[in-house]
Amino acid sequence: MKRIALFASGSGSNAEQIATYFAANVDVEISLIVSNNSKAGVIDRARRLHIPVLLFDRKTFYDTDRINELLQKQSIDLIVLAGFMWLMPEAIVRSFPNRIINIHPALLPKFGGKGMYGHFVHEAVVEAGEAESGITIHYVNEQYDEGQIIFQASCAVLPTDSPDDVARSVQVLEHAHYPRIVAEVLATLDQPKP
Ligand code: GRF
Repeated sequence: MKRIALFASGSGSNAEQIATYFAANVDVEISLIVSNNSKAGVIDRARRLHIPVLLFDRKTFYDTDRINELLQKQSIDLIVLAGFMWLMPEAIVRSFPNRIINIHPALLPKFGGKGMYGHFVHEAVVEAGEAESGITIHYVNEQYDEGQIIFQASCAVLPTDSPDDVARSVQVLEHAHYPRIVAEVLATLDQPKP
């Protein structure tokens, strides 16, 4: 049995897709939805999906080791960030080497880094006159959006597209690919280290 902790601070549509994808899989459990935002849509989704929620504030996250300890106590195998905005504390990154992944709504290394999230990303893509955008799924390290890339998929951006249009195309890619890539990363955890 592999145990996943999903970190999300927003609507949680990706978190729900992932939970639904694994719902019938007896070898994978979404053990926890972890969030810093009690008003986030993901909390309602977690209740509906009967997944325990762990809420925390900034001080607990950055000034104590409580979240890290809890993740270890719960034997979490993989941390999946799905719309989680805060930088992972170094201690958690060190405790989960190659076991934290994130999805970014653009084709990294373009349009990444601090402040590049949500609609800011899609606005920047349109502003730059890009012909395509997409998703990047990557390992997480101590820097925003700089961990090793696992998977990318792209979509066209038309000259007439608004940031909301781009957001919609990107979300289709996120839902189509993220659960499957999570499954692939879980499978690699079983492989012996070279
Ligand atoms: C997604 O666009 C994801 O790429 C980004 O945050 C958004 C989360 O959306 N990191 P949702 O909360 O899963 O609907």
